[in-house]
Amino acid sequence: MKICRTVFALLLVLFLTACAGEPELPVQDTGVLSAAPPAGNEPLPQPDISLETTAAPETKPPVTEPPATEPPVTAPPVTAPPVTEPPVTEPPVTAAPVTEPPVTASGEHTIEVIDGVTYIDGVLIVNKTYSLPADYPQKSLTPEALNAYWTMKQVAAAEGLTIKSISDYRSWYDQRYIYNGYVARDGQEAADRYSARPGHSEHQSGLAIDINSTAFDFDQTPEGIWLATHCVEYGYVIRYPKGKEEITGYLYEPWHIRYVGKELAQKLYLGDGQFITLEEYFGITSAYAE
Ligand code: DAL
Ligand code: ZN
Repeated sequence: MKICRTVFALLLVLFLTACAGEPELPVQDTGVLSAAPPAGNEPLPQPDISLETTAAPETKPPVTEPPATEPPVTAPPVTAPPVTEPPVTEPPVTAAPVTEPPVTASGEHTIEVIDGVTYIDGVLIVNKTYSLPADYPQKSLTPEALNAYWTMKQVAAAEGLTIKSISDYRSWYDQRYIYNGYVARDGQEAADRYSARPGHSEHQSGLAIDINSTAFDFDQTPEGIWLATHCVEYGYVIRYPKGKEEITGYLYEPWHIRYVGKELAQKLYLGDGQFITLEEYFGITSAYAE
């Protein structure tokens, strides 16, 4: 019996010694907070060693993004910038005005209408009676008008004068925009005295230029005086002379010059800055049909 007690005591000692020598396992960070942290030195629950060493490492479930909580990004509504130009619309299709060639006073001039454009003695005519079609193919000043302008400008510059274009070629649409603006501002009757209806402006021909200023007293400036007395040398005329509104259909425009070539310009020039009009020279009218 004593031997039994001794053996039992030895076995107990061995058992307790074996238990005390077991290594502590590292605490894995599972990322999950336990409900209550271990208090003080309270031993952590021991994991199952056999599973820990043989089982495949725990694979976390695939991370799925939480459903987006932000509201869907929607592009702000596109707001068109303010439209300053009027929408370009095709010109109304209207029958070309029937322009019966007016009988000229002397009957010595030849009138031709080619592709809707009127030429008298080969000179393109555009005024209130004679129009240019909306699809007239000119896109800029003609080479002759441009070269003559540059030569004139350089000669004037050599004399200390500044000649510059403030408006030259205009499309049918440009002219409509300009004219409509004046009609809106001053009414049609007033606008018709100084602005051509679309199709009726010399600017659409690429043969006309407005120089420096659209003030009536431009003719009192050194440049205005020089222009009136020298433009003829370069093939230009002052197209709407003072006091000829009933003939040209337009108020005096000392700034508006029209290229007609040197030969015709010399015939139209009366000297001292005075000009005979194309209407007078060719014996034609300038008046709208309606
Ligand atoms: N100011 C001239 C007449 C035009 O509009 O062509
Ligand atoms: Zn002009």
